[in-house]
Amino acid sequence: MKGIFITFEGPEGSGKTSVIEAIVKQLNEENIHVMTTREPGGIRIAEKIREIILDVENVEMDLITEALLFAASRRQHIIEKIWPALEEGKVVICDRFVDSSLAYQGVGRELGIERVYNINRYAIEDCLPNLTIFIDVPPSIGLKRVFSNDRKVDRLDLETIQFHEKVYRGYHEIIKRFPNRIKVVDGTQPIEIVVKEALKWIKTVI
Ligand code: TMP
Repeated sequence: MKGIFITFEGPEGSGKTSVIEAIVKQLNEENIHVMTTREPGGIRIAEKIREIILDVENVEMDLITEALLFAASRRQHIIEKIWPALEEGKVVICDRFVDSSLAYQGVGRELGIERVYNINRYAIEDCLPNLTIFIDVPPSIGLKRVFSNDRKVDRLDLETIQFHEKVYRGYHEIIKRFPNRIKVVDGTQPIEIVVKEALKWIKTVI
């Protein structure tokens, strides 16, 4: 692929979305144009799958069904949006990607990192990011942020603090497995510093 694929990861309330917005603005000012997208979602079919997964009414959803739906939405997103953009040589920034499944479904839901990675291998083939930035915010701080702003609370936000602690530990396990690809930025710092540190990593790959 000719382009550069960058993903952002983090637990609930890590502020990834605001950080990505600020980074894109800064890059645009430097005449570096990027395509942004998000998971689950990014394209029509995947946004529909997102609605099913995150609907607070879907309490009976089986955990493997959940993992498969995330992988299915990811597949469609890659085929329709990510690969074509990378083929054109674009810089693609995606808010969450396969590491979210490894942390949330693999460790949070206890399906196992290997098992969830195997499910996702069908979806992503060899499409792994060139760089992943993990915005590190412990769940005790992140969840307070989620419940104090006006963002719509979804089915996964409503999980127990123990679930979110597992997800957080899961991310740190994944970081140990992929130290070259995943870079950690302390998300408890003021947003300007978080943006500056994330940009520094981005500049190493673009
Ligand atoms: P968001 O709040 O960052 O938009 O993400 C939606 C929720 O979906 C969030 O709770 C994380 C969760 N998620 C997974 O559990 N597995 C995945 O593979 C992805 C992409 C998201």
